[in-house]
Amino acid sequence: MKLIFPCPYQKHAVTVMEGLGAAVETLHDSHFLNTVLFALGQTHHKRNIRPCMLKRMWPSLHVGLGAALGDGYTKEVSHAWKKLFSYICLQMRHGMNNPDLEVDVQRAVHVKVT
Ligand code: HEM
Repeated sequence: MKLIFPCPYQKHAVTVMEGLGAAVETLHDSHFLNTVLFALGQTHHKRNIRPCMLKRMWPSLHVGLGAALGDGYTKEVSHAWKKLFSYICLQMRHGMNNPDLEVDVQRAVHVKVT
């Protein structure tokens, strides 16, 4: 990860990658995932991150995924990641546009499929 994101934003890049991993693990529980992403959008709004800034992360994510996955990063895989990323941005944007709406992430029960 250090080689892929060698800049002051390295810590956040790792955080985002962990967040993406958690999103993939939670795709089966869309209510929980949407609630968490909504709340994440709200925390970003409070940090003055604007919705238009979210999509600007895609080019570096795309390059990072390509470097990490090599030949496995096919057009189809890239397309699937882009769709997931767009979905994440959309849900975060809802939270950014509704910064004062109360959401209860604890009660958005996470049902793990075994
Ligand atoms: C889809 C895009 C993004 C995802 C998935 C994401 C994810 C996260 C997560 C999981 C955290 C830690 C939880 C929290 O503190 O709320 C975080 C923190 C943070 N994010 Fe993001 N973020 C995204 C975009 C951005 C953008 C575009 C910026 C700024 C230009 C940004 C700036 C920050 C800052 C300043 C923090 C707190 C400091 C830190 O933990 O390093 N984020 N982000």
